[in-house]
Amino acid sequence: YRRLRVALLGAGAVGSQVASLLLRHGDELADRAGARLELAGIAVRDVDAPRDVDLPRDLFTTDAETLITGADIVIELMGGIEPARSHILLGLGSGSDVVTANKALLATHGPEVFEAADRVGASVYYEAAAAGAIPIIRPLRDSLAGDRVVRIMGIVNGTTNYILDRMDIEGADFAEVLADAQALGYAESDPTADVEGHDAAQKAAILASLAFHTAVPLDAVHCEGISAITSSMIEEARAAGFVIKLLAVCERLTGGDTEKISVRVYPALVPRSHPLASVHGANNAVFVEAEAAGSLMFYGAGAGGVQTASAVLGDVVSAARRHIAGGVGVGESTRGNLPVARIGDV
Ligand code: NDP
Ligand code: HSE
Repeated sequence: YRRLRVALLGAGAVGSQVASLLLRHGDELADRAGARLELAGIAVRDVDAPRDVDLPRDLFTTDAETLITGADIVIELMGGIEPARSHILLGLGSGSDVVTANKALLATHGPEVFEAADRVGASVYYEAAAAGAIPIIRPLRDSLAGDRVVRIMGIVNGTTNYILDRMDIEGADFAEVLADAQALGYAESDPTADVEGHDAAQKAAILASLAFHTAVPLDAVHCEGISAITSSMIEEARAAGFVIKLLAVCERLTGGDTEKISVRVYPALVPRSHPLASVHGANNAVFVEAEAAGSLMFYGAGAGGVQTASAVLGDVVSAARRHIAGGVGVGESTRGNLPVARIGDV
């Protein structure tokens, strides 16, 4: 097989699992990708920091730039805006395809990143940027491209679902379960992003942009988190036959000749008989309603290192196949409609 050099940026909850799977399943991945995926190095802040999994020490570096410039595929799993943004732009500028799980970056700097990719005919893959292991980006961008999505509703943040679920089932304390969610690798490095709904809002903006073929800026997403939810509210909801869930609701609102997009994230009372009430732990569920397809449901792990690594590696295989098929400059556009001109007010 031809060798493709893979630069991994970040070895935290997700990155360490991606590295481990790349090293363990090298032969199988080579068969599927049609190329040997050679892990060229792993850029981190501290090469001596303890890792979730055992990885060869000589792969670690703090020199991300040198690693990126020699790579065919760059996997960005650092999170945050900088230096992730600069590293992705450097990778694209050096002729690499990029795989990222960074919804914070895509929801705020998506246009810049996709324009940089378009300029050189590179691709940016981001299946892991929404709902962890659940395949939802490709279904919305590709499988449903011939249909008309009218509504997306679901639970798209694992940390808050884990917190609310344990508060509901065990009467657990908010701060204690948040600490557990961090230890389990579900939470963002600053968990305020989870708790205040920002992470769910970033994912909702990405999903709505793909589903409705229009740019949905993050500041157009109504966002309420769960920090004001108390144990007594959860108890009251339970007594009335409801469970509190942090929902993302993206809708196409049609009235006469005009069309508007509404995207909201908020804690909602969900009847215990509703399927969303049975989404436990860090799982996510996304319901999609489309005019022709009808109702579709996507369910699975919404957070977690190894689970998310599955989505990341799927993207790496796609990127490798593209290189083998013709290389950067001639391949598929993964941008979908993220973002294009608006069809109406958001
Ligand atoms: P972590 O915080 O666990 O890991 C981040 C990694 O990036 C660490 O290895 C860290 O290095 C490295 N890093 C961070 N900043 C820098 C920097 N300035 N220079 C060099 N290295 C840096 O993050 P996660 O693995 O949890 O998440 C990674 C991405 O995946 C994020 O965008 C997140 O939103 C997304 N994601 C996460 C999911 C999850 O369940 N955790 C699920 C879906 C998406 P060091 O170890 O030396 O500190
Ligand atoms: N912090 C995020 C969550 C990770 O809890 O859903 C997955 O995107």
